Amino acid sequence: MKRTIVAMPGDGIGKVVLPEAIRVLEAAGFEAEYVNGDIGWDFWCDEGNPLPQRTVDLLAEHRIGLFGAITSKPKDKAAAELKPELRDKGFVYYSPIVTMRQHFDLDICTRPCQTFPNNPLNFIRKSADGGFEEPLVDVVIFRQNTQGLYAGVEWTNPPENVRAALASHPRFKAFLDVPGEDLAVSTRIFTREYCRRIVTAAFEYAAKHGYKSVTVCEKPNVIRETSGMMEAEAAEVAKRFPDIQLWSTNIDAQMMWLTKNPEDYGVIVAGNMFGDIVSDGFAGLVGGLGFACSANVGKDVAVFEPTHGSAPKYETLEPSIVNPIAMVLSACMMLDHIGETEKAARIRTAISSVIAEGSVRTYDMMKLPGGPKVIEQGAATTQQVTDAIIAKL
Ligand code: NAI
Ligand code: MG
Repeated sequence: MKRTIVAMPGDGIGKVVLPEAIRVLEAAGFEAEYVNGDIGWDFWCDEGNPLPQRTVDLLAEHRIGLFGAITSKPKDKAAAELKPELRDKGFVYYSPIVTMRQHFDLDICTRPCQTFPNNPLNFIRKSADGGFEEPLVDVVIFRQNTQGLYAGVEWTNPPENVRAALASHPRFKAFLDVPGEDLAVSTRIFTREYCRRIVTAAFEYAAKHGYKSVTVCEKPNVIRETSGMMEAEAAEVAKRFPDIQLWSTNIDAQMMWLTKNPEDYGVIVAGNMFGDIVSDGFAGLVGGLGFACSANVGKDVAVFEPTHGSAPKYETLEPSIVNPIAMVLSACMMLDHIGETEKAARIRTAISSVIAEGSVRTYDMMKLPGGPKVIEQGAATTQQVTDAIIAKL
């Protein structure tokens, strides 16, 4: 039976890299039907909704999505670009990615950050003898995707009942006299069930893939209730995995250690914001946005996407210069998710050989400032990198 995948290219370079990933999937022998899912800026402008209901319905039906990237703009720009008939009708722009994550409860976000040998963008550091060493990074971040600081429960000038609730906490004393319009509150809400789900996913992944440690990266010494709950659930879940060590680091210290000993970490688990920070940090050690892939997995639906955005400054370049690898690696995560692990492994090996040989490299890997000139400077186009991967397959 052929699978149906909802392909959501989105905006800008999302439209460039998603078809490249599909080319690689086909070359690896993965047979699927792709249905197009509308998402992004054009649909905001034309319909007042960047995630139309028809796309939500497609995802609900087929359950697997491949997503490129979208463009988001600030409130006033969003309102100004709405087509005239829709203006002043109460349409409010809201990120379709956040909407998708919340609607389908895609609570488990996985972001692997793994070194490809001979990638010129790999992090190196000085060794004690004055030489250089290139630590092998193999970290997989599990980020809680739906709660915490990004859940959107926040106010400037909170309503009276909220203020009253806050005032019932002794520590709110310091803010009692602040006028409403000068008071901004963003909540950090964790639930035990979702802490349990994310740490369980992290431990199960570590066990399946042979990682020796799971590190909870929070700040329980200061943010006692929420970080504390995550840590307590991790301690509970860890009992079922006696062969895996449970470590705990504070997010700030973790960023300090980022370049000191990145090779010591395996699986890392964190709430929404700290997970975002720590995954960007580790992604920077292994090549950055051209390599950063991710999975967003819920109970029923899963969506796979590169971490990068729509890179508007490159969207109209012909030929395209952006690196397709982050998108292709996201497609590999999709293959793993649906049990096509052998095909995923073959694609990763192909990517790895292209990088190791080093003759076909996008501009980012050549450390060139992006622009149309990079091709004459020896950079490969997006399509050439895909072709090289396919040739290896
Ligand atoms: P961006 O990720 O689109 O681009 C930042 C820079 O990273 C680019 O200018 C380019 O130099 C580099 N880059 C990104 N992807 C690359 C690739 N595949 N290969 C080589 N280089 C690459 O982030 P930016 O410029 O902050 O945002 C642009 C738009 O994208 C905004 O509208 C923003 O809201 C949106 N965005 C969307 C995301 C998503 O769809 N998940 C994530 C981040 C931003
Ligand atoms: Mg980020």
